[in-house]
Formats: sequence, structure tokens, C-alpha cells
Amino acid sequence: MSSSRRRFLNRLGVGLGGLTALLAGLPVVGFLFSPVRREDEHTWRPVGALGEFPVGETRMVRYLDPEPLPWAGFAARSGAWVRREGEDEFVGFSMYCTHTACPITWSEGANLFMCPCHGGTFHRDGRVAGGPPPRPLDRFDIRVQDGQVWLRTMGAPRTG
Ligand code: FES
Repeated sequence: MSSSRRRFLNRLGVGLGGLTALLAGLPVVGFLFSPVRREDEHTWRPVGALGEFPVGETRMVRYLDPEPLPWAGFAARSGAWVRREGEDEFVGFSMYCTHTACPITWSEGANLFMCPCHGGTFHRDGRVAGGPPPRPLDRFDIRVQDGQVWLRTMGAPRTG
């Protein structure tokens, strides 16, 4: 093999190795700097017009997660249960069970939040009614402004 060909192959090898190392390191750099560009996990989001919430009823609302991962896709949309207790009185609950974060449903007939995973149940005020959940449902801050119901978002669900 001629020396110029050997030199060319050496340089090509070093160049490809450097490029590979650079590409492999990009996710690490992105991870290290992601806290700098993240929006606060506690951000107010509008979840519907006041008229969409009849007094005494519990509604599922959807909102955009303020800190979704870039590849989150549909999972960047989160949700909560919101009940209008009075004219200007609202209460909001996490849609995630406090056992292992399964999504819960509201049963109007039973007047309970129910978890399909291990049978956990919660009273209408979020207290544990039965099953394995170790603590009440997480609550959202809710406010009414300009005819809209606003919810202050939370980070990822806490379990246990
Ligand atoms: S996740 Fe809800 S009871 Fe286990």
C-alpha cells in the first residue's frame, strides 16, 4: 500500500471516528442544557370556558404539558379532573392514581374516582376511599379569569 493511500485512510478513519463521537455526544449535551431552556412546570393553562363547567359536575380537561420531552408527541398532552363546586368555586385533581400513576376515571353514579389498575378508589374530595393508593389525589390550583377556567400545571405524577 502506498504511503499516500495509507495516510488518506488514516485521516479518513480519524475523521469518521471523530464524527461518530460527536454524534454520540449530542444527546448528552442536549440533556445537560435542557434545564436551561425548559419552561416552568407550574404554568397556568386555560382549560375551557366557564360555561363548559356546570355546577356540581366533574369534567376531564386536557392541557399541553409545559415541559414535554422533544419526542413526547401525543403524550405531551396531559389531563386533569375539574369539578365546579359553586359559581366561582372549582377543584382540580390529577388524573393519575397515587399508587403507580394509572389514569383514573370519575364515576358519577358511585361518586368516586376509580383506578382500573389495582382497584384503588378516591372520594370526590380526593381522599383515598379504598385499595392500595397511599395518599390522596394531587390537587391543581384553579382560577377563573376573563370567562375562562385556568389550571396551574404540575410536573410528572408522583407515586407512592
Ligand atoms: S395504580 Fe391505582 S390502584 Fe394501583
